[in-house]
Amino acid sequence: MKKIVLLASGSGSNAENIIKYFREKNSLHNFHIITNKKDAFVLDRAKKMNVSAEVITKKQNDEGVLLDRITELKPDLIVLAGYLLLFPADIVALYPNKIVNIHPALLPKFGGKGMYGSFVHDAVVANKETETGITIHYVSEHYDEGAVIFQAKTPVAETDTALDVAAKVHELEYEHFPKVIEKLLND
Ligand code: GRF
Repeated sequence: MKKIVLLASGSGSNAENIIKYFREKNSLHNFHIITNKKDAFVLDRAKKMNVSAEVITKKQNDEGVLLDRITELKPDLIVLAGYLLLFPADIVALYPNKIVNIHPALLPKFGGKGMYGSFVHDAVVANKETETGITIHYVSEHYDEGAVIFQAKTPVAETDTALDVAAKVHELEYEHFPKVIEKLLND
């Protein structure tokens, strides 16, 4: 049984999908959700799934609360699934290769500060890209820069809107993110 801490800032559909994937396999892994937003929908999902969850704000991150909680929780893996804050560098230093993030584009393209959610998909469409995808990578002290673990691609049609691209990317996320996590837990 492994302990996995999932961090999400908003909807949390990836967090839910990951937990469901392991539950469907009757895995005994233990999940805990942390969000930085007290009204994030991921909290409703956590309640519905009966998964423990808590809010740790950006201010609390700066005060070392997240570091203290992670130290208490002793996770085997920390998963950023739509977590929009820069992850504290002191935690990154303590957990080398135990923190992973999913980015909704093919890094190094369309990454970095301010490149999240619809901004990424808007940029992909504006740039007339013919393909996009997902990148699962280790977290470093810079946005979207750690070593790449996995990428998957999807074509972008000329007529695709940013919403169409987002839907294609989410599909890839739901398919691959749980499997990559499973592999990392088994390595
Ligand atoms: C995902 O597209 C993820 O790649 C990104 O933020 C989005 C989060 O979606 N970084 P959700 O909260 O899991 O629904």
